[in-house]
Amino acid sequence: MRVTLSVIKADIGGWVGHSGVHPDLLEAARQVLEQGRQQGTLIDYHVAFCGDDVNLIMTHTQGVESTEVHALAWEAFQKATAVAKQLKLYGAGQDLLVDAFSGNVRGMGPGVAEMEFEERKSEPVIVFMADKTSPGAWNLPLFRIFADPFNTAGLVIAPTLHQGFRFEIHDVQEHKKILLDAPEEMYDILAFIGAPERYNIKAVYSRATGEIAAVTSTERLSQVAGRYVGKDDPVMIVRAQSQFPSVGEVLEPFTFPHLVPGWMRGSHMGPLMPVGLNQARTARFDGPPRVVALGFQIAEGRLVGPVDMFDNPAFDEARRMANQIADYMRRHGPFEPHRLALDEMEYTTLPDILERLADRMEPLAAPEKVQAVAPEMDVD
Ligand code: F6R
Ligand code: MG
Ligand code: MG
Repeated sequence: MRVTLSVIKADIGGWVGHSGVHPDLLEAARQVLEQGRQQGTLIDYHVAFCGDDVNLIMTHTQGVESTEVHALAWEAFQKATAVAKQLKLYGAGQDLLVDAFSGNVRGMGPGVAEMEFEERKSEPVIVFMADKTSPGAWNLPLFRIFADPFNTAGLVIAPTLHQGFRFEIHDVQEHKKILLDAPEEMYDILAFIGAPERYNIKAVYSRATGEIAAVTSTERLSQVAGRYVGKDDPVMIVRAQSQFPSVGEVLEPFTFPHLVPGWMRGSHMGPLMPVGLNQARTARFDGPPRVVALGFQIAEGRLVGPVDMFDNPAFDEARRMANQIADYMRRHGPFEPHRLALDEMEYTTLPDILERLADRMEPLAAPEKVQAVAPEMDVD
């Protein structure tokens, strides 16, 4: 059967501050999705959280961008927002940027990752949910999973993976996309995705079968709202096993807590720490940025799970390393590269400071123009 897996997320109020989600919000969202299940819109659902974000994980047969499913998600967020307002939770409804739903949650605030596929004989999937970072955070692990033979042994030794994978890369500034094939075009892929604030991997496909293997959310709240309204805190779905990398190959890149932008005030570089749900609340300096991985087997659209994949001693060292990196980065205080570059910060006081101090800013003498001379080189 053809199944659609939709993960739609929003920050609709934090408990306490921007650190976590109050259980009553999860319950309010569950009630709405349960109605949707009973009325036949959904086959199954699971409501989860990471940091201050609520994640709606839903299965159905309506395809991606279904108005009915998106409307249900919107209603779940609205009901949960009403609860958040009663409890005066922090930033209640912060990611619901418009008053009325109009067909699709894309562009209205929430983040979306959805894929439709023919359910395999056995269908393992992993839903990743991150907090205090942006969608480019998936670039490095996705490259490792689907193109790096030092991560994914199957690329070398499994006949089902050996043809490699196709990457769909989005230019989020120019709103363009390109499809590139690994391994042949690996260096071109890296030239783009090494700049994760500009280029995001949106999806990955098997080259052997054309099937979708992974999809991410790439929504930029600041582009939607035209101003800073919070970090995008992305989600990602990855299918595993058989013609795709195994579950262990999918999780392996997260043993390296790579640096991602986000963290405090969306304006700092910090390590992405893999955590179980019991550690999915942010704390230190509003972070460090976190990622949770929930595993499911899908059976006729039913979500058999979740299994909390990072709640495992195999990731203890990654957490320890993330803490050490966090200490090291924090010691830079307000200096780059811990603090983001001027044009990437979500908060800044510099325009006000420049205005206030404008009459104290004195021009410097223009630097003297020098005639550049090509150096002489000995060439054989
Ligand atoms: C970052 C984040 C937090 C807030 C910070 C200040 O994505 O959510 O680090 O930016 O706690 O929040 P406000 O400005 O709401 O007091
Ligand atoms: Mg928040
Ligand atoms: Mg968040």
